[in-house]
Amino acid sequence: MRATEISRALRLALPVVVASLWGCTHDPVIAERIEKLPAEDAAGASAFHRAGQPCVDCHNTYEGASPELAVGGTIFSQNPDLTLKGVSGVFVTIFDSAGATSKACTNAAGNFYITKADLQGVADFAFPLTVQVGSRFMSSLVGRERSCAGCHVLANEERIAEDPSVDKATGQGRSSAGAILISFDEIPESERCGPLVDPTGSGGGGASGTGVGGASGTGAGGATVASTTAATTGAGGSGGGQ
Ligand code: HEC
Ligand code: HEC
Repeated sequence: MRATEISRALRLALPVVVASLWGCTHDPVIAERIEKLPAEDAAGASAFHRAGQPCVDCHNTYEGASPELAVGGTIFSQNPDLTLKGVSGVFVTIFDSAGATSKACTNAAGNFYITKADLQGVADFAFPLTVQVGSRFMSSLVGRERSCAGCHVLANEERIAEDPSVDKATGQGRSSAGAILISFDEIPESERCGPLVDPTGSGGGGASGTGVGGASGTGAGGATVASTTAATTGAGGSGGGQ
């Protein structure tokens, strides 16, 4: 093949290559999920943002939000008035099928995440995954969904309109396992990873849980971290005491 023929062949091939990459970057299911998400938090993007949303819909190579996450989600407790608030300072543990254990600590919004870079020595988790939060285990396995909120979908007007059986507080219903709920009291000492701080956003309802919430709002709640071995991020360690 002469040079001009080669370059002609490349030119012809190029749109095909571009089209297939485009197809990748715009998974229609994910694109639709992202489109329906609530707007960005007023405080802007941070490790504390978009609590309860499917983190890895955006934090992946194709959608491009940084950091690239292996898993991410939000752990909640329920206030006495049934509204949700993020639980900080509880370990989320992921056991993958190759025997690797990764731990992350929830921050003041209840968010946790494990980045691809956190996975030491391997490119990715071996699915399916076993999931533990505090002392609770999810009894089924996670086959491929990286966002907890891919299944633990919160309530929203559209879902409630479509299916009146959806729990308005937790989102639990036929199409969702609902918010991942845990109460402060049930978290054993060994599964605490920093002071249990009330998330900043949820002003009222302070009476719930253990009431240990330190005054230090966002200051505490170490963002994430740890793979393979348990690294505690918080200063006060087991600040929850009683
Ligand atoms: C709708 C898309 C979207 C969702 C959903 C989303 N994020 Fe983000 N996130 C972003 C964008 C955009 C940024 C800004 C960084 C960038 O543009 O790459 C960001 C930034 C971050 C950062 C980096 C903050 C910093 O200071 O560098 C972290 C950590 C993070 N998000 C965690 C999460 C977690 C945890 C969740 C789920 C509870 C989540 N995100 C959900 C789009 C998203
Ligand atoms: C593929 C869908 C799916 C994904 C993804 C998923 N879950 Fe679940 N989860 C469920 C279902 C369904 C249940 C209820 C039945 C069960 O325990 O298996 C559940 C239950 C749980 C429970 C037990 C709740 C209780 O009341 O004891 C915890 C804890 C939990 N999930 C945490 C998580 C975390 C953390 C993530 C993200 C790392 C996650 N889940 C991702 C579907 C999912």
